[in-house]
Amino acid sequence: MKKLNLPMIFQASATELPYPDNYFDAVFTDPPYYDNVPYSYLSDFFYVWLKRSIGDLYPELFSTPLTPKSKEIVAYSHSEGGFEAGKRYFEEMLGKAFQEIYRVLKPNGIAVIVYTHKSTGGWETLINSLLDSGLVPIASWPIDTEMRSRLRAQDSAALASSIYIVCRKMERKDVGWFSEVKDEIRRYLNEKLDKLWLEGISGADFFIAGIGSAIEVFGKYEKVMDYEGNVIRAEKLLEFVREVVTDYAVRQILHNGIAGELSPLTRFYLLWRWTFGEAKVEFDEARKLAQSIGVNLEREWNKGFIKKDKNYIKVLGPQERRIEEIESLREKDLIDVLHYVLLLWGQGKREEMKKVLSESGWGNKEVFYRVAQAISETLPLDSKEKRFLDGFLSGKDKLIIEINNFQEKQGRLF
Ligand SMILES: C[S@@+](CC[C@H](N)C(=O)[O-])C[C@H]1O[C@@H](n2cnc3c(N)ncnc32)[C@H](O)[C@@H]1O
Repeated sequence: MKKLNLPMIFQASATELPYPDNYFDAVFTDPPYYDNVPYSYLSDFFYVWLKRSIGDLYPELFSTPLTPKSKEIVAYSHSEGGFEAGKRYFEEMLGKAFQEIYRVLKPNGIAVIVYTHKSTGGWETLINSLLDSGLVPIASWPIDTEMRSRLRAQDSAALASSIYIVCRKMERKDVGWFSEVKDEIRRYLNEKLDKLWLEGISGADFFIAGIGSAIEVFGKYEKVMDYEGNVIRAEKLLEFVREVVTDYAVRQILHNGIAGELSPLTRFYLLWRWTFGEAKVEFDEARKLAQSIGVNLEREWNKGFIKKDKNYIKVLGPQERRIEEIESLREKDLIDVLHYVLLLWGQGKREEMKKVLSESGWGNKEVFYRVAQAISETLPLDSKEKRFLDGFLSGKDKLIIEINNFQEKQGRLF
């Protein structure tokens, strides 16, 4: 009879694998995602019961009163040194785990690393640790893995997908010059983004899928440098990826053509709705998105539709603003005018609405209605802002005729 090769399961820290060099054909790992989940603390709940019921069958697994915590690779903030220390620990341990994968993998073996995080910080750590380990990313795939209804997805801009990064142990090119690597990334990324867009990946998931594709190019080099001799690390790479993905997304959301006619603030608003919907977002993430589109968040917040609340940024919709506040603005962006008009529309003040549209000059410009349409398309069906927009847009053709008549009449009067 043929002997069955049963799988064997061992427990060890990923940072110290009890195996010789060049041992495995494949390594598949799903490491913790930075600060996302406090696994060991959550596990304690089950551990104490399992220890009582089956602890005697696996004494080596249940030797401690609670789950062991000291080698856990999670960026915690509760120990000495706060989040900064937790972050450093995570980076160091993840780096060690990737080096172990490199060590135990056969020269022609394959490694797959699953990762996701909505913050740039979470990605910087992963990229730096991965590249330092010597593993070369050769492909990346976003896969829908998260339940939208889970607790952490509610009221936050949670991600729906994880990125599967496929790596090999292979020779890398020596030095890449950042200006040339950037051109290579831009070309490759635009092709990949076309595919991802057609597959319906959107919002924050689109960004992280873009990151995966960029490291396929970046990781081919031993190191990437600029002409001043500085080594380019993940932070600069991510800044660039954000620029390329942002530019691509704005053009797509607007169905091409008019992106260049819009102010940075209008582009920011559109991109925000598409990326984060109506969620509040940590300041640093919001700042990075704003920066990639040429908006200085510190200068803009608390003036119009951008609100800072403690460490979070929220982008207000029309229903969260007051007419008087918009009226009092010295300079009104297209978005302010749109909100103003939507509030008037909601109150049935048609004549005032026509006046605002006419005086601001937006009322008979196609771009104004295309922006309104694009915002509506980014929002979920149950959004109040969407209902405002769709209602307003349904009477658009008649409104433009009325505005033209209104302007003619005004012209005759003066
Ligand atoms: C993203 S989860 C993996 C989830 C898994 N794929 C599943 O579907 O259940 C990350 C896991 O890494 C584990 N982990 C944390 N530190 C570790 C270490 N030093 N060595 C091995 N595993 C570790 C955590 O306990 C957690 O179970």
